[in-house]
Amino acid sequence: MTQPLLFALPKGRLMEQSKDLFQSMGIDFSFDNRKLVAADSSGNFRFFLVKNSDLPTYVNHGIAGIGVCGSDVIYESGHDFYKLHTFSYGGTKMCLAGLKGAHNFGNDAALKIATKFTSFTRDYYHKKNKPVQVIKLNGSVELGPVLGLAPYIVDLVETGNTLRANNLEVIRELADIKVHLIVNPAYYKLNYKRINKLVDEIKEGEKSWTPGSQI
Ligand code: PRP
Repeated sequence: MTQPLLFALPKGRLMEQSKDLFQSMGIDFSFDNRKLVAADSSGNFRFFLVKNSDLPTYVNHGIAGIGVCGSDVIYESGHDFYKLHTFSYGGTKMCLAGLKGAHNFGNDAALKIATKFTSFTRDYYHKKNKPVQVIKLNGSVELGPVLGLAPYIVDLVETGNTLRANNLEVIRELADIKVHLIVNPAYYKLNYKRINKLVDEIKEGEKSWTPGSQI
């Protein structure tokens, strides 16, 4: 019997959207009662529910062969994966933000920036020859400027609601962030026929998918 494809999904909004898409394609599974591993009803897939920032680790080690992951998280991981598809959902922007009207961007010798995305931020400003002092936070980054930890943050902005609610504004958009289907290269070599078929099915499935229709 063929082994199931080992698939990592990130907790949160992306998992809900991915599950909705997969269900519309007839791939049916659920993480009931706080279970973190689920088989689909056909037995073709085994899904792992992992923390967003841990997903590249599982795929890099081949524990999961495939995963759904944002380019922000892939970048921070420093790992290389095959990116076989870019999903139509989950896109955001990586932005520099600060307190409304308070920034004095041009005059700062070194930008003091609080962020979860330390590699991205350092590399981005290094390429621009702009000195930065990066302070690592693990979440609720918007608190940084509000409490005076750092005047700036680099963070994902989707609707802008979190910034607005905390009296912050975008100073500059730094990068478009997309969500990819990532694959471990060694796992792909062993399973490329099934994975290519899945990618084709996802591409087709997305065309006829109405987000939220399966929830
Ligand atoms: C993300 C991001 C922002 C927020 C942006 O945080 O880091 O805080 O979403 O979304 P918005 O522009 O639609 O308001 P997330 O919800 O992942 O939680 P975190 O702050 O704990 O990282």
